[in-house]
Amino acid sequence: MIGEYNANSHFNVLIKNGLAALPPGLQQVDIGIRGEKIAALGARLNASADLTLDAAGQIVLPGLIDPHVHMGIPIKDTWSADNFTTGSTAAAFGGVTTILDFTVQQPGQSLRQALDDRLTRAHAQCHVDYGVHVNITDQPLTHLNEIPELIAAGFNSFKVFSTYREAGMMIAWPDFRAVLAVIAQHGGLLMLHAEDNDIVESLTARHLTEGRRAPIYHARSRPAEAEARAIEQAAAIAGDLGAPLYVVHVSSRLGLEAGLRARARGVNIYLETCPQYLALDESRLAGPNGHWYIATPALRTRADAEALWEALAADAIDAVGTDHCPFTRTQKDAPGGHFAYTPNGIPSVETRLPLLATLGVAAGRLTWPQLVRVCAANPARLFGLDGRKGALAVGMDADIAIWNPAQAWVIEADNQHGSADWTPYAGQPVQGQLSALFLRGQLIIQDGRYLGDEVWGRLLLAAR
Ligand code: URP
Ligand code: ZN
Ligand code: ZN
Repeated sequence: MIGEYNANSHFNVLIKNGLAALPPGLQQVDIGIRGEKIAALGARLNASADLTLDAAGQIVLPGLIDPHVHMGIPIKDTWSADNFTTGSTAAAFGGVTTILDFTVQQPGQSLRQALDDRLTRAHAQCHVDYGVHVNITDQPLTHLNEIPELIAAGFNSFKVFSTYREAGMMIAWPDFRAVLAVIAQHGGLLMLHAEDNDIVESLTARHLTEGRRAPIYHARSRPAEAEARAIEQAAAIAGDLGAPLYVVHVSSRLGLEAGLRARARGVNIYLETCPQYLALDESRLAGPNGHWYIATPALRTRADAEALWEALAADAIDAVGTDHCPFTRTQKDAPGGHFAYTPNGIPSVETRLPLLATLGVAAGRLTWPQLVRVCAANPARLFGLDGRKGALAVGMDADIAIWNPAQAWVIEADNQHGSADWTPYAGQPVQGQLSALFLRGQLIIQDGRYLGDEVWGRLLLAAR
């Protein structure tokens, strides 16, 4: 475990006495950082350092990875409220040192053009490290030839949608098969937003024709059955091809079970869920300002959330991303509460760690290593960041989050750092608080203050 270390060692940073989330549990260790890397890790490192931080009683985690964020994307006549600057600041306050965003492919654009647009938006704006998944939404078959070169260039993850036909984003199943085949053949990973569009469109039309516009009809138009049906169809194709498949934001027991059935048949399927499907339920859509809670997939029942918690505890879910896609109250209110026109998405990147630490670890549902597995180690492995990100080990990037489990606070809109002027988690008590965050050896957050006066975030390319 100990790296380059002797009694005369000197580190740039020495984190002492922390309880590090090192599988299978928590171990008291000291961590020495030199430059951007973890240089040594072991019990009682006696060395000098430019900065020594006593983390006694605190949990030391690898900087978290959020594999699913949207920093400024067009949805329903508006744009999600966080750009890379504000969204990455919020991410950092949530213990996140890497965000993975998605391209937005405009009609007629090549995948490369869409990627370049996204990279331009992020460049010199991001306060944490970032990667970009490549969305394939426009005429997928005409872009198959771009896929190998993008993978070779370090962009190895792609995403398609089995719904959102009205927005010109849906992929048909035969095209899905062709795209998945090429991606798998070249060692990439396809991500899928899974909802059966026929079910969604017919229920949406029925509710609207019969005059039902209230926010709860967002959930009634996009039921769990739609998620499960799309996962079944996609998994059947992935199984046929022997291709890996990553299903984003699994929200329901039915969707989860469809994924787990496929896995039991031998399909190489990875399942991601999000904090909103663990911590919230569809009663929010029927309550005050119900339209603020419109996100897709829709919020589900408590029983669905329980099924997801159980799957997390059983290590059956591979990742917890956030699908961070905030809108301000003004943006949410503009369509007058109409479920079909309200921009879908909620802020989440800053609250994943507090929610999982409180409702998961402190509640006895999850261990710290399990939290690290789904919020750091697995995303690193799946998206080609292994060996650099996602674990506390000698030679890794010194991305380190320190969490003080003794601090208690309450989530409110005014203690959040993104652009949304509300949070779906207002009033939620939190057990523990981020006390420090290092990004590649730089201390960027300490005791609730952002210290980075420069933009430290770098583009990450996937290793092959
Ligand atoms: O409602 C959501 N989740 N908005 C972002 C787009 C998506 O489907 O992930
Ligand atoms: Zn989605
Ligand atoms: Zn999303």
